[in-house]
Amino acid sequence: MSRIDPHSFYDPEQPAVRRLELFLRADFPSRTLSGEVLLRLDRPSSGALDLDTDGLRIASVTTEDGRPVPHALGEPDPILGRRLSLDLPPGTDAVRIAYGTASEATGLQWLEPAQTAGGSHPFLFSQCQPHHARSLLPCQDSPRVRVTYRAEITVPAGFTVVMAAAPRGKRPEGSGTTFVFEMPQPIPTYLFALAAGRLESRDLGPRSRIWAEPETVEAAAFEFAAIESMIASAEGIFGPYEWERYDMLVLPPSFPYGGMENPRLTFLTPTLLAGDRSLVAVVVHELAHSWTGNLVTNATMNDFWLNEGFTVWAERRILEVLKGEEAAALAWALGQGALDRAMERFGPDSPLTRLKTDLWGVDPDAVYSEVPYEKGARFVALLERTAGREVFDRFIRDYIARFRFTSITTEEFLAFLEERLPGLAGRVGAEEWLYRPGLPANAPRFQSARMAFVLEMASAWAQGKRPPAEELRALNPDETLLFLQNLPRPLPAQSLRDLDGLLGLSGRGNYEILVEWLVIAAQSDYEPVFPKIEEVLSRVGRMKFVRPLFKALAATARTRALARRIFEANQARYHNLTRRVAEAEMAAYPEG
Ligand code: BES
Ligand code: ZN
Repeated sequence: MSRIDPHSFYDPEQPAVRRLELFLRADFPSRTLSGEVLLRLDRPSSGALDLDTDGLRIASVTTEDGRPVPHALGEPDPILGRRLSLDLPPGTDAVRIAYGTASEATGLQWLEPAQTAGGSHPFLFSQCQPHHARSLLPCQDSPRVRVTYRAEITVPAGFTVVMAAAPRGKRPEGSGTTFVFEMPQPIPTYLFALAAGRLESRDLGPRSRIWAEPETVEAAAFEFAAIESMIASAEGIFGPYEWERYDMLVLPPSFPYGGMENPRLTFLTPTLLAGDRSLVAVVVHELAHSWTGNLVTNATMNDFWLNEGFTVWAERRILEVLKGEEAAALAWALGQGALDRAMERFGPDSPLTRLKTDLWGVDPDAVYSEVPYEKGARFVALLERTAGREVFDRFIRDYIARFRFTSITTEEFLAFLEERLPGLAGRVGAEEWLYRPGLPANAPRFQSARMAFVLEMASAWAQGKRPPAEELRALNPDETLLFLQNLPRPLPAQSLRDLDGLLGLSGRGNYEILVEWLVIAAQSDYEPVFPKIEEVLSRVGRMKFVRPLFKALAATARTRALARRIFEANQARYHNLTRRVAEAEMAAYPEG
């Protein structure tokens, strides 16, 4: 036995699963998916095949023609779940497993009607990255393995199923409906995704459609109307879009991430629906994963920066085309703030601040941070600056063409870099960037005149000066966010009243701004916004917002009491990831 992935029982010496055929029924009252999966192997095989499972109830394992396959579930491991060891009879090229998911499956969230916009139907969605696909189906849950699949999902009448795959129609089945999907492009299992609820769609362009609850679909169609121009800009830099369709799904607010790059169907938080298209950078990011991440995939979570660092860099290149250099520079500046806070969280000497990480024995969800994103993007930007943009753009297109539909390690990337641009890695100090903690001194800096102006305004405010109201109100959303991020805390109540009065912060539809404001207010023990904090934390499960709010509420005995009350009232409905993040922040509170 030889394992190469810290988060999977996948053994590269065993046959690989190449294709899945999945038949599942969603039962909302019991919060389970049940049915069967047929796993087609890359070759007729015999002997050991180890699969990942988590919480699955295995009913039977047979060959395609019905011969029983001896199997055993290992002891549960808190990070890996349980190994399902099969002993394949000679000549086996497909295994059929009948099974059901746990009601607490880590990769699923089952919502009550009250947690949706419509309030009438429950809702189900998956989030498989990084290692939760195994709680939906038995599989080789390592990004080294790619599969195509067909899926038939049965739901009660009134529900629609969407998947990160091509829809192939639906048919009535008993009192419900079966939705059929085919995924023609091979994907790592972390990109397996489905959702079911009361859903509608609007076409946005020749290859894009938005899905959402009927109550939000119009707002979503408005917010992301520019999607075709984003795809076209991205293709201009990275080459053809290889997934045929780029559809999007806006989820209920408990979705734990801003976006998830599920191929052919990006999943998005409704907190992006600011009403003014100011948060489309998240869509640009998920779209960019269509090249960096979904085509060229990290081999394991130790190489996660290959997914996210490249994608943040790509996102800002696309933003530059769409909105100009000034807007891109501002995005880099906001990212710097996020990177600084992430470095503080771990400490600059922590091995978790290396780009290449060592996560054997470490839960990847527990150490998720901005480091692979922002440090990674800065490393790519440094390579770009040093090579020159034209040369580097050619390299990136070659890189994507060379590794498309494969998964690579940091070292495989480095070898390709050395082959195509000899000496560049040495010149930028790649060893330090990749293998040592902290941010190297040659990290690129991003500046602009607007940025300097905004920082100036923030430091004036901190000194009790009040810039002219029109000037403050003239800041665009990203500038407003940068301004807020650079205010000191705690701030006195009068300063907070002035801020809210001038900028209408408590009523903002842009959640980045709203939450940064609520964080400042929480850190300042500013009681007038407590109801708003409670409202947000009762509705929104996006960890990017939940974590800083719970952290900020550490400020005083009064804010800590508020946090504990909010958590008690809502934890049963939180996504398991959201719950853990809130708990981790509260565990660090001082007594009282
Ligand atoms: N792939 C990530 C989300 C993710 C990473 C889920 C690791 C689970 C494990 C996605 O592309 C992402 O980075 N989302 C960001 C958006 C962004 C613009 C940086 C988010 O959710 O905030
Ligand atoms: Zn990403």
